[in-house]
Amino acid sequence: MRIVLVGPPGAGKGTQAQFIAGHLSVPKISTGDIFRANVSEGTDLGRRAKEYMDRGDLVPDEVTIAMVRDRLGEPDARNGFLLDGFPRNVPQAETLKKMLAEWDVRLDVVLELVVDEDEVVRRLSGRRTCVSCQKIWHVDFDDKRDDVCDDCGGHLFQREDDKEEVVRHRLEVYQRETAPLVQFYGGEGILVRIEATGTVEEVTRRALTALESPA
Ligand code: AP5
Ligand code: ZN
Repeated sequence: MRIVLVGPPGAGKGTQAQFIAGHLSVPKISTGDIFRANVSEGTDLGRRAKEYMDRGDLVPDEVTIAMVRDRLGEPDARNGFLLDGFPRNVPQAETLKKMLAEWDVRLDVVLELVVDEDEVVRRLSGRRTCVSCQKIWHVDFDDKRDDVCDDCGGHLFQREDDKEEVVRHRLEVYQRETAPLVQFYGGEGILVRIEATGTVEEVTRRALTALESPA
């Protein structure tokens, strides 16, 4: 299956992507994760991306698209994938469509996670990420009293772009650049919306049910 996850910052895309991709046995491809890995490794790509990410702006399309093209060309993505964080604007969506057409395939479903702005701010302000295994935690909802990953013992860190003023800017960028994708994919007839409130498990169940019978 070829799936795109869309939704505002903090909607739970990364959280759900790890479960959904595992359940469907497809690779989870997160552009945010790939950028962050490049930043921490100090690559050229990371250096170019960092200034945009720290401000909460989108990394330029030519950089992002080249990176996604490389990743989707890898053998593990040939029979399916779950994209988290890409496409992020209509030009990226149009490019993805052409790219997949070159390979004679197409997207099956675009899953939109719907959640209101207050909840998003609450989720992002308490988010912690494991430096070793990338698992996403929340200080309140997961009752994290220390900065240690329960899965692997790695150190948990807070993302630079989760500061309040950057979060607010990311939400504006989402409304301006990314929200129009809902109409774009609605027009293609492959958009499925689910409520992303409730527990992580409830949202995963809703997502899997929606993916099993998308029509
Ligand atoms: P990216 O990493 O994609 O960030 P984002 O879209 O802003 O999304 P987030 O990762 O902040 O949120 P999420 O929806 O994954 O939520 P999460 O699961 O963590 O992008 C970062 C930057 O990279 C961009 O700003 C841009 O600069 C650049 N970039 C990336 N892709 C790009 C592209 N295509 N083009 C250009 N630039 C690009 O959940 C949040 C918190 O809530 C966690 O703590 C979690 O534990 C908690 N939580 C989740 N679900 C629940 C629940 N049901 N109940 C309670 N808590 C929950
Ligand atoms: Zn970990």
